[in-house]
Amino acid sequence: MSIQRILGISAGFVLSSTLLLGQAKGDAAKGKEVFEQCGVCHAADSDEKKMGPGLKGLFKKATLADGKTKPTDASVMEKVNKGGNGMPAYEEMLDKKEKDDLLAYLKTL
Ligand code: HEC
Repeated sequence: MSIQRILGISAGFVLSSTLLLGQAKGDAAKGKEVFEQCGVCHAADSDEKKMGPGLKGLFKKATLADGKTKPTDASVMEKVNKGGNGMPAYEEMLDKKEKDDLLAYLKTL
């Protein structure tokens, strides 16, 4: 086997595994476990306020609690990452996989 061929195969392998990982969606069941630490402040099964707004139907709402931001992957993760107004910032506390799982779970509410 030539060196070019070996390099070609490994490059192809790296590329396809990157693509596969890139496509991997969050796992809502695992996200539910991640959400346990959010449950102290957020109800998942109602939109009643605890410390923070209830998150039932989060992605089905017209806007977030601020009354103007549309709930999207980006705006919800922005809030989770940055926190503010009594919401802790989770940017450093959760890894990428946990955030994907969490997002998948939030979409089931
Ligand atoms: C210490 C209490 C606390 C914890 C723990 C907490 N939050 Fe919050 N969260 C809040 C508060 C308070 C707000 C409202 C902040 C505001 O009005 O800007 C909020 C806002 C939010 C919002 C925006 C909701 C909306 O309709 O605007 C989302 C989404 C959210 N939190 C998700 C989470 C997730 C996911 C976790 C766990 C990783 C979490 N929160 C953990 C207190 C908390």
